[in-house]
Amino acid sequence: MSKPHIIAIPFPAQGHVMPLMEFSQCLARHGFKVTFVNTEHIHKQIVNAISDESYIRHDHVHLVSIPDGLESQEERNGPRLLSEAIQAVMHQNLEDLIEKLNKEEGAKITCLIADESCGWALEVAQKLKIARVVAFWPAAAATLVLNFCIPKLIHEGIIEYDGTVLKSQMVQLAPKMPMIKSTNFVWACTGNSSTQKILFQFMERTTKNAKLVDWLVCNSTYEMEPTAFALEPQILPIGPLLASSRLGNSAGSLWPTDSTCLNWLDKKPPCSVIYVAFGSTTVFNQTQFQELALALELSNRPFLWVVRPDTSDNIPYPEGYHDRVGSNGLMVSWAPQQNVLAHPSIACFLSHCGWNSTMEGVSNGVPFLCWPYFADQFINESYICDVWEVGLGFDKNESGIITQGEIKNKIEHLLGDKDFKARASKLKEMAMTTVKEGGQSNKILKNLIEWIKS
Ligand code: UDX
Repeated sequence: MSKPHIIAIPFPAQGHVMPLMEFSQCLARHGFKVTFVNTEHIHKQIVNAISDESYIRHDHVHLVSIPDGLESQEERNGPRLLSEAIQAVMHQNLEDLIEKLNKEEGAKITCLIADESCGWALEVAQKLKIARVVAFWPAAAATLVLNFCIPKLIHEGIIEYDGTVLKSQMVQLAPKMPMIKSTNFVWACTGNSSTQKILFQFMERTTKNAKLVDWLVCNSTYEMEPTAFALEPQILPIGPLLASSRLGNSAGSLWPTDSTCLNWLDKKPPCSVIYVAFGSTTVFNQTQFQELALALELSNRPFLWVVRPDTSDNIPYPEGYHDRVGSNGLMVSWAPQQNVLAHPSIACFLSHCGWNSTMEGVSNGVPFLCWPYFADQFINESYICDVWEVGLGFDKNESGIITQGEIKNKIEHLLGDKDFKARASKLKEMAMTTVKEGGQSNKILKNLIEWIKS
């Protein structure tokens, strides 16, 4: 008998592709055949990054692609938002793909799993009457709860009907929930006001669709966010989804990983290295880049710093930097982050607080220094610093810069206070227990698997 066939559709961005790939690998291990649908643009990057090409022809997670509607690199860099292009063309492309697969021998799609941000894909599932539909949320439940609360925010006069922020104020939906400044709402802290309105509409549409699915699962845990899950019981935790799945291949990574840094870490004492990484999209201006470089030098501790080539295009390191730092610091363009965070030499994680990075740090009991830029990163920072108390944030100076002195002081504060590490270790234990036999995330995942098979 052929295996039940799932089609999985991530939102086309690194922080979305990787966790859905982990989820898909987990489902494949449980006996499903999974067709994983990237945009052509993302697919090309993944293929370039994969060292073992046979992965693409892997029996149970099969990588395929469809166009996203942006024709050229110029258009990709231009004003038309990817989310607009996606909404215009991808539903038809997906429909055609599913119809083609359904005609193949033993390949009929029985379940569609789409990123919650792909409301258009959930609409295709409804139209094609796919029997089982799951929305997957790769970020904190609290972020989704905030999206669900948009009508309340409008009613309370915090935002306008089009998402425009009317009042700058701190918002906390309930005690023990993260705090967020209204001007940092996910749609409100990116681009100009017309971009923000498009994003807001996009989010309203996806949130509406997410309410219609059979299952809405989230890469988080009850233990980390009890209040958020209590506020929206429809959202179910199945995280942390990481695990050993990424060790054997780099499927899902958009850049080739430089694993030589693991040998470098092997030579460092336990709990000594500052790991610095800002995810897949954040970029620096020259002043901020150089302040960070000088702070790491000043800290006089070993550091491993991920400097993506596009993070620092044409920004020079401070004069004589590499010579002064010597073997105390290593810069790589893309690290095997999960392996790095699991390495015993890591003392702390200076992070932009993307949710995947947050889950990966938490799952390894690593304390954080928080440097959020946009989207859900402010909510995640509040969880880390205010709710779980496993990290510290930075203060900017009057010119909006985080200075080398500030960074150095916070490094010393965090590493000088053993309570941060103790709380981080406790949080790790909770996160690991929930995915073991009898744990909450484990039970939910098992139920989901049974339901898809039924
Ligand atoms: C984006 C948003 O920034 C984030 O806030 C949201 O929650 C998801 O989408 P991104 O910026 O890429 O994500 O950050 P993050 O969520 O942390 O995901 C980055 C992923 O890339 C992580 O899984 C991390 O392990 C991986 N990574 C990062 C590497 O494998 N190597 C690196 O060198 C850096």
